[in-house]
Amino acid sequence: MCGIVAYVGSKPVAPLLLEGLKRLEYRGYDSAGLAVVSPGGIEVRKSVGRVSVLEDKISQDPDALSAAIGIAHTRWATHGQPSEPNAHPHTGKTREGHEIALVHNGIIENYACLRTYLEGKGHTFTSQTDTEILAKLIAELYETDLESAVQKALHEVTGAYAIAVISAAEPHTLVCARKGSPLIIGIAEHSYVVASDASAIVSHTTQVITLDDYQVVKLCAGKRDKYTQEQGLWAVEFRTTTIDNVPVTSEVTELEIDLQQIELGGYPHFMLKEIMEQPESIRNCLRGRIDHREGRVVLGGLTDVTRELVRAKRFLFTGQGTAYHAGLIGEYLFEDLAKIPARCEYASEFRYRNPIIEDGTVMVAVSQSGETADTLAALTEAKERGAMTIGAVNAVGSSIARVTDAGVYLHVGPEIGVASTKAFVGQVAVITLLSLYVGKRKYLSNDAVSEYLKQLEQVPDYIQRVLDQSDHIKSCVEKVVDRDNWLFLGRGYNYPVAIEGALKLKEISYIHAEGMPAAEMKHGPIALIDEGMPVVFLATKGSQYAKVMSNIQEVRSRGGRIIAVATEGDEQISRYADAVFTIPPMPDALQPLVSVVPLQLLAYHAAVLRGHDVDKPRNLAKSVTVE
Ligand code: G6P
Repeated sequence: MCGIVAYVGSKPVAPLLLEGLKRLEYRGYDSAGLAVVSPGGIEVRKSVGRVSVLEDKISQDPDALSAAIGIAHTRWATHGQPSEPNAHPHTGKTREGHEIALVHNGIIENYACLRTYLEGKGHTFTSQTDTEILAKLIAELYETDLESAVQKALHEVTGAYAIAVISAAEPHTLVCARKGSPLIIGIAEHSYVVASDASAIVSHTTQVITLDDYQVVKLCAGKRDKYTQEQGLWAVEFRTTTIDNVPVTSEVTELEIDLQQIELGGYPHFMLKEIMEQPESIRNCLRGRIDHREGRVVLGGLTDVTRELVRAKRFLFTGQGTAYHAGLIGEYLFEDLAKIPARCEYASEFRYRNPIIEDGTVMVAVSQSGETADTLAALTEAKERGAMTIGAVNAVGSSIARVTDAGVYLHVGPEIGVASTKAFVGQVAVITLLSLYVGKRKYLSNDAVSEYLKQLEQVPDYIQRVLDQSDHIKSCVEKVVDRDNWLFLGRGYNYPVAIEGALKLKEISYIHAEGMPAAEMKHGPIALIDEGMPVVFLATKGSQYAKVMSNIQEVRSRGGRIIAVATEGDEQISRYADAVFTIPPMPDALQPLVSVVPLQLLAYHAAVLRGHDVDKPRNLAKSVTVE
């Protein structure tokens, strides 16, 4: 949801900013822009479309290429359509006539009244964005220095922001701040790289500071001492304050990702890479968390809250998109394995009701990025109403991970493809571990826990057996890829998998797909079924098998084309299905970890066959940091 990158230091900035923007492009890709401080003042360059368009535009541009301090942005439109005037950076002019340029991720909610105020002060607006208000407000409040102008301006705005600001009056200074949207400062040798997430930083350094809400950081460049002068290098210094100008000591931490994890490594798309690396990523997720000798789950992040978890009366999962689907599986797992009532709610709905949080409620926030605005807000709401909060988050150090009382990281590595795949399986794996962790301390027998853990450890190999069917899945998809309406049906644990499968197909192939409980089909959607309509059934062996088989007959007799995810060795299914993808035999409770994988491959192949940009589907963004 918009990516920010900024640099201050010794090297020409434009190539570095462009490289950073490309890494952040999954956050938004409808337009891009950068601003640098050059001897003549601030140079702004913008373009509509991908970062590569901006790159072409400035490749022959000496003014943009020579500077050593700059800010850049890749946009996912909220206020105003994708266009050059609406692309960031936005600018303002101080009373002395010095230009200010700013990039922003988030939403300024009180932009309308601020705009009226600033127009009254003589500022002229050239875009429809909320961000331009902030650039002009900082310019309006500028007296002697950029840092205090930013601090003052941030007192006036409501909403969410991560910003990076430069000023022609202070050509060696970069000021950044955040509230609600992520921002990380990378500390490299004689330079700083600021970005919305670690992927744009890791090629420069692994030493980072993560800004907290209402914090402002001022980063300065200049030749400071003999050593640096002799080397011809720039030295840099920084200070962090609150927006009230109270100094803050920032903790420097080590990034856990390496460059290889965020490169394509020979795959044509990040999505395919992330699907294919699931055996490894799930091994990483489970590593150290299964103690076979004791037959127990080890979750270090929960040690301090174990008593409260076991005493909990109700679990409440929350998330958005794919993470919500993982939470839905949590309902089944908790009621089944831990015998505790559990519900999953869209974070966006939860926060705008008047939710009743009874004593003993534990909220589990599920999120890949750890930055989804609605999930964060639901968490805050639940916390204020007395719930204990747990995170099931992938991005280490992200906002959700920091706000929750305790948590379990997914450890599946960075996910770059906009359509979430390995993070979903990681989320389900973590929730499964959590349900066994609590279940063992309640009703689940030691033998049952040991058996689940043994099976869980097989999951990476089971996933591999599905991945080996990729070519078969592709050739089945080829026969139906021209169809524009699909159904995905499942029961029990496989119902959330059905809606996740439908979401994957919608997201990247733009095919209309609906996922629902298989039995619900008879209550309306069956009217849609006509000759050749693809209907994907989760028809694995388990408690729901016989019922699903009846549903298959109902669709088949109306001409639907059956694509089934079934259990290896099931001979009956091939008599009724036009295509079959298999998973190994496994307990109902663990099936979603594997049964979703053929659906990921199905969606991937459908999108490629339809000629779509799999990693950057239209209108989507990886991390939705606005409500
Ligand atoms: C966006 C992404 C989805 C993701 C959802 C929740 O819509 O496109 O893939 O599932 O946000 O994101 P989170 O980072 O909280 O898991």
